[in-house]
Amino acid sequence: MVTGGAGFIGSHLSDQLLNYGHDIVIIDDLSSGKIENINPQVRFYHRNLYDDNIERVFAAEKPQFIYHLAAQINVGFSQQEPGLDAYSNIMGTLKLLTCAVKHNIRKIVFASSAAIYGNPKYLPIDEKHPATPLSFYGLSKYTAESYIRMFAATFGLRYCILRFSNVYGPRQMGTGEGGVIAQFNARFSQGETPVIFGDGEQTRDFIYVGDVVSACCKALYMGDNRTLNISTGRAVSVNQVYEFLKNIYGCLTKPGYQPWREGDILHSVLDNSVARSQLCWQPRNSLKAGLEKTYRF
Ligand SMILES: NC(=O)c1ccc[n+]([C@@H]2O[C@H](COP(=O)([O-])OP(=O)(O)OC[C@H]3O[C@@H](n4cnc5c(N)ncnc54)[C@H](O)[C@@H]3O)[C@@H](O)[C@H]2O)c1
Repeated sequence: MVTGGAGFIGSHLSDQLLNYGHDIVIIDDLSSGKIENINPQVRFYHRNLYDDNIERVFAAEKPQFIYHLAAQINVGFSQQEPGLDAYSNIMGTLKLLTCAVKHNIRKIVFASSAAIYGNPKYLPIDEKHPATPLSFYGLSKYTAESYIRMFAATFGLRYCILRFSNVYGPRQMGTGEGGVIAQFNARFSQGETPVIFGDGEQTRDFIYVGDVVSACCKALYMGDNRTLNISTGRAVSVNQVYEFLKNIYGCLTKPGYQPWREGDILHSVLDNSVARSQLCWQPRNSLKAGLEKTYRF
């Protein structure tokens, strides 16, 4: 079962799991996902996770493993509507966990986020870094993580929590978190000038969606009851991303610089060494290669 399988990362994951011969069921309410992202070979349930009838999907499909990616991912929205964000990300997760225990699910793999760390106290951020989220989104993802760990301790549910850095790639919408590359692409492809908030020297850890999917696939059988950073471990500035894309598009325009946005983190890079050893995994796409694949899409 892949929740959020109509979304950016979930749809790539579903495609890869199908390639490996798995039988896939997707639950998605299409709030930000798209029907055209869904592979025709999966069975699709158009449901909200906190719907009462979600358990019927478990009864009908009897899934063995769950990838839980469905979430409200828009940080700005979470600040305006913390209650709705919590319904999706906390209550939705709780509902899923309850069904998972009742139906003897073998393992749940959860998509968490670097947003749980908040302002870094040191770099690169490892998994021991304190969780002090700056947004309701970060808080709801961290709360969902905590519920998963508590379900594991109480009911013996097996899990692997993956904290993604900024993911990019084909099918990503220019909204939500980590959307700077998608926003640049949208602007470049329409002949418009991309906007950079601040001086562009802020850094992020941009990881290609294919590398996130390969980590998710490994987490099905490895990394039991672990919480792992999934990242490249490399800091890249927004100006550097702009330069790469400018060259790919063959564009000469300068970005439009605008004032810093309140609450923006200056630098963020995640240490991925535990994931490398626990999952026997490593990211394989350079930023240039990933951006070119995204551009071709
Ligand atoms: N994109 C990133 O850079 C990034 C970084 C860190 C973590 N993550 C996490 O990865 C996961 C996938 O993110 P994405 O970028 O693919 O986002 P996305 O918005 O493309 O995918 C989320 C999917 O979940 C569905 N959904 C949302 N709320 C739902 C609900 N209550 N019930 C059923 N379906 C619901 C949406 O329709 C969408 O298809 C999320 O959990 C997100 O928090 C993403």
